[in-house]
Amino acid sequence: MPNVAVVGTQWGDEGKGKIVDLYTENADVIARFQGGNNAGHTLVVKGRKTVLHLIPSGILHNNKICIIGNGVVVDPVVLMQEIEELQKGGLFPPNTKLYISEKAHLIMPYHKRLDAAREASSTGKKIGTTGRGIGPAYEDKMARTGIRVCDLYDEPRLLEKLQCSLTEKNFLLTGLYNDKPLTADEIAVEYLAYAAKIKPYVADTSLIIDTAIKMGKKILFEGAQGSHLDIDHGTYPYVTSSNTVAGNAACGSGVGPNAINNIVGICKAYTTRVGEGPFPTELTCEIGQRIQKAGQEFGATTGRQRRCGWLDMVLVRQAVRTSSITALAITKLDVLTGLDMIKICVGYKSENGEFTHAVPANIDLLAQCQPVYEEFAGWKEDIVGSRDITELPANARKYLQRLEELADVRINLVSVGAGREETIILKNPFRD
Ligand code: GDP
Ligand code: IMO
Ligand code: MG
Repeated sequence: MPNVAVVGTQWGDEGKGKIVDLYTENADVIARFQGGNNAGHTLVVKGRKTVLHLIPSGILHNNKICIIGNGVVVDPVVLMQEIEELQKGGLFPPNTKLYISEKAHLIMPYHKRLDAAREASSTGKKIGTTGRGIGPAYEDKMARTGIRVCDLYDEPRLLEKLQCSLTEKNFLLTGLYNDKPLTADEIAVEYLAYAAKIKPYVADTSLIIDTAIKMGKKILFEGAQGSHLDIDHGTYPYVTSSNTVAGNAACGSGVGPNAINNIVGICKAYTTRVGEGPFPTELTCEIGQRIQKAGQEFGATTGRQRRCGWLDMVLVRQAVRTSSITALAITKLDVLTGLDMIKICVGYKSENGEFTHAVPANIDLLAQCQPVYEEFAGWKEDIVGSRDITELPANARKYLQRLEELADVRINLVSVGAGREETIILKNPFRD
């Protein structure tokens, strides 16, 4: 009985939330394994839109277990806001099974301050982060000075860790960034109040997943961000601070790699990026604006306008490789409707004229790469109502066929609208 991981193949915002919500019907446990509330996952069910930042996108289904894994960085302020928001909307009934790993690291007030200060500083090169404290929280995790969910239930330890951290953080905040210092006591009071509120959800989530697997239940691992925002495999330093590739689904939720069978890569029918960093197929012309408008490409977390460009198969192929993707789910095909001509980038020409299929590690070289395109005739027919691949216009099918060839992996889903039902399902990844 296969378990499935869902990951983004581009720079995030591929439509992972929609697909995870859709696949949840076949799953018993849905686990987020990395990132934090830098993510913005949008679900549209019966015309009603829900944006989730931390809580797994399976939450709208009844009787599913939703897990925030050890690999996630948790801002308790945002977590409580999100729970309360869902409760207000009647989407978080009292029997909701949400569990948060006791090993997950916490985003602290100084992480958010440092993230903002670094981005604003004239000495640092702006990354265009979401400003949610993600990078500084993961830095502390790696430096072994982070504060974990379990520390919230050991007051002396929490205070000791806070005092220790603040010695360094206040030095940076006041000395380097001209900001105000923070006090351990104030933070402790605030976080202990959150500790009480989130206590019912705190658990050994690795054990919960393992037990579920042994009972033959199906697990859906939900990735955040995209392959090219991965700290190792992305366009470093214009990346996020976690591993977004499928390998981390295991590590970030406390299971071994054998627990994951099928890996679905979510791929938008074009490319978008929020924040800074190279983007070879970016369209700064009228077509880019048209895609941005038709696709309503605004960040679900920060509201920033997303940069838009043609589909880049060099990026997608690398994502297939680095995540061992077994199938692709293509989203937002409907956004391309009405364009006379559509392009797919099949390779890059480097500055010295060489053709390459690889994403150079040096981002300056990537920025100099010229995309090599294949051109496709567009289609005019409205495809939002299509529920079977045969209902798509011939030109849309040709586009998908070429995409599939270039990716060298099959397409198992085509999304033609934001709604849960606006989907063409070719193969269910939970069935072998
Ligand atoms: P995620 O971060 O990967 O979950 O993606 P986001 O939710 O940030 O961004 C995807 C946006 O596209 C959301 O507003 C979705 O509601 C919307 N969306 C998802 N699939 C489709 C689709 O097939 N067509 C259209 N038009 N919108 C879609
Ligand atoms: P979802 O899960 C798109 C981008 C930021 C910035 C870089 C680093 O919705 O696909 P960070 O705050 O993580 O340190 O910012 O990563 N970024 C995203 N872009 N979608 C996301 O998440 C993102 N999460 C982070 O814009 O360029
Ligand atoms: Mg998003």
